[in-house]
Amino acid sequence: MKIGTIEITGRAALAPMAGVTDAATRRVCQRFGAAYTVTEMISARAMEFGDKKTLALASVEHDLGPVFIQIFGDDAACMALAARKLEELGPAGFDLNMGCPVPKVAGNGAGSALMKEPEKCAQIVRAVKEAVSVPVTVKMRAGWDSSHKNAVEVAKLCEQAGADAICVHGRTREEMYRGHADWDIIRQVKEAVKVPVIGNGDVVGAQSARNMLMETGCDMVMVGRGALGNPWVFREINAYLTDSCTIIPPPGINERLVTMRRHLGRMAELKGESRAMREARKHAGWYLHGLRGAAEFRRRAGQLCTLDDLDKLIADVYQANCEEESL
Ligand SMILES: Cc1cc2nc3c(=O)[nH]c(=O)nc-3n(C[C@H](O)[C@H](O)[C@H](O)COP(=O)(O)O)c2cc1C
Repeated sequence: MKIGTIEITGRAALAPMAGVTDAATRRVCQRFGAAYTVTEMISARAMEFGDKKTLALASVEHDLGPVFIQIFGDDAACMALAARKLEELGPAGFDLNMGCPVPKVAGNGAGSALMKEPEKCAQIVRAVKEAVSVPVTVKMRAGWDSSHKNAVEVAKLCEQAGADAICVHGRTREEMYRGHADWDIIRQVKEAVKVPVIGNGDVVGAQSARNMLMETGCDMVMVGRGALGNPWVFREINAYLTDSCTIIPPPGINERLVTMRRHLGRMAELKGESRAMREARKHAGWYLHGLRGAAEFRRRAGQLCTLDDLDKLIADVYQANCEEESL
């Protein structure tokens, strides 16, 4: 499949998640077969002021596969300028955030608030497309609330304005992350536009990926929460989507811990040990979910300060779980 000029291999992408999908996390998901990944959201306004931290968030030099930089903002000219600057970093493309529900973003007219202004969505797409030479995608919600589910209208306008693909998260802003995503709105968008449609919301494994593809006709799925501490989800989906519907068993304790160590070790290389270990606490908690002794180990994960703490934790988790595996 292609998004604009970019060749995409595989049918499951990693969703952008602020505070989660940094370079190390994208990389581990790419290793296990994520078709493409998206950075954490980058503020177009902060780029205007040359904020160094924002620029660091957008770095894509350690990625192993196509990565889109996601930008958010409420002003077409400002977003175009940000995209033009960020293009120098070498992303596969840009993703425009029209779905973020948090008040800090939507309260300023950006993210999901853009769904209330379909013409403005189109203006933003047009401006960014004119500013850069790489593909531009849009990630939107079903709409603002249950009485304004206008994803079809917004998707059509964005397509006319030049969007190369549309990703739809089947929840409204009002729903935040609650309840079930409405996959029917994804089907409706797919029927309304010609560019690739990426379905998002509640895909957590091989079976749900297949169900979404079949029920909505979308071209690809995008996985967010289902990939937390579970980068193997991409390997499972890819294997299942072959003709023979291969089911890959979940990883054993060795693979789980070795992957977690590599992932969090890479975070330390990229961000420095102290900051990385603070940020690694939540990732370690996700990786340890469901293991024997998880409650106590997750409590310890919440206190990680050094790589040494991490290695001791891994040794103890292994000790407590390896016997079970050898039975
Ligand atoms: C912690 C977290 C951070 C998120 N940050 C972003 C973001 O920066 N940009 C964005 O478009 N969506 C963001 N999302 C939404 C996800 O990309 C995705 O649309 C949503 O989680 C639904 O997919 P899922 O059911 O597979 O998790 C975030 C979600 C979570 C849980």
